Amino acid sequence: MADVGAPARPLAGPNSLEDLFAAHLEGVCLRTARALEACGYSALLVHSGSLLPVFQDDRTYPFEVHAPFKVWAPLLEAPDSFLYFEPGRRPLLALHQPDDYWYKPPALPQGYWTRHFDIHPCRDLDAARRVLPASLRTTAFLGDSLAELPTWAVADINPPRLIRHLDFPRATKSPYELACLRQASRVGTRGHLAAARAFEAGASEFEIELAFVGACGQREQDLPYNPIVALNEGAAILHYQVLETSLPAQRHSLLIDAGAEFAGYASDITRSYSHRDADFAALIGRMDRMQQALCAGVRPGVDWREVHLQAHRLLAGVLREADIITCGAEEAVTTATTRVFLPHGIGHLLGLEVHDAGGFMRSPDGGEIPRPEGHPYLRLTRTLQEGFVVTMEPGLYFIPQLLEAARADERSARINWRRVDSLRKFGGIRVEDDLAVTATGCENLTRDAFGAASAAA
Ligand code: GLY
Ligand code: MN
Ligand code: MN
Repeated sequence: MADVGAPARPLAGPNSLEDLFAAHLEGVCLRTARALEACGYSALLVHSGSLLPVFQDDRTYPFEVHAPFKVWAPLLEAPDSFLYFEPGRRPLLALHQPDDYWYKPPALPQGYWTRHFDIHPCRDLDAARRVLPASLRTTAFLGDSLAELPTWAVADINPPRLIRHLDFPRATKSPYELACLRQASRVGTRGHLAAARAFEAGASEFEIELAFVGACGQREQDLPYNPIVALNEGAAILHYQVLETSLPAQRHSLLIDAGAEFAGYASDITRSYSHRDADFAALIGRMDRMQQALCAGVRPGVDWREVHLQAHRLLAGVLREADIITCGAEEAVTTATTRVFLPHGIGHLLGLEVHDAGGFMRSPDGGEIPRPEGHPYLRLTRTLQEGFVVTMEPGLYFIPQLLEAARADERSARINWRRVDSLRKFGGIRVEDDLAVTATGCENLTRDAFGAASAAA
């Protein structure tokens, strides 16, 4: 794990990350035991992941640990390691420590989580197999199809039913996970503040990204996703990836969607800025207030599909107020005119993965909750429960392809094209916070982190 600065919660002592982890792991063991029983297995074996070689080269791509492995422990840089769990017994960790002088093998882990595991350093896969039980005939395996696996004779490889049973409860975060997610937001916020300063100082997209990464103290490959740093029209490309090293002739706007990681948990934060244009700054302000109105509606029992549709109703109001559309707000929604300006989903589950598992699941046993018709990119359709962590990320973009499509159909008359053409140079706006659903509402991890940073400044 990269050094991400001192977490707000102590690592040891009463109510520390160590205590929280102990309770969290107990919960993971319990829900895994239930899942194994429901699916007819006696044990679980999880692979951390393989190093993927570059074609015909001796380099590898940056390692990404498999999420079902990091559910168990914040061991993020140990390829070809294994977690073995049999209900009622301490989890076993076969830690791959190759005898290598080209690359540094993972060190024996230290820290708040290690005392809960039987940790066995293993030179290779054969050694890992030797520390596992003699028979794996009733053990389910999750991970890559390793060449050695047929000789291990596991019961099943990546059984979909078991994966569903394991993924479904991941939506509800434990107090330990919430502490990690809070810290991921705090670190991400440090990066955002540095990025905003770099933008103010006239930095390029690449330099803004460096400011973000430097302030987070994390390598790009350790972040939960590649930062989206877009000046001007680039902000209309939803997952813009270029990171231009040179500056555009004129700067109009910045959209930065970037998050940090703590103990394997992600933050996912977006801010939009205007460069000395009061009209665009006012539009960002409108989107920010709309986002806050949506956050205010987040509580247990809310159907996330309804939040998404409400976002379109509120966006229609913003578009009307800002003179971007010529029709009434209701008509803009019913005629799909708002979808020209907001084509993505309003948010998603957040946790070990930035788009966390299980967003559509009706139950562990099967069935998906469909997206609302005409909204193919929504990633969460479940009803919110206490402990869910979600993003809230409304946007308003001037996307050439979608605008051209609308110009060619009956929506054209509902759009104020002169106004749109004057706004294209800004690309778009997104405001994204991370929310933890509480018993009565939600905790805004991102705004709290920005608030704490400005109080400390
Ligand atoms: N950063 C990707 C997303 O917001 O979903
Ligand atoms: Mn997001
Ligand atoms: Mn994002």
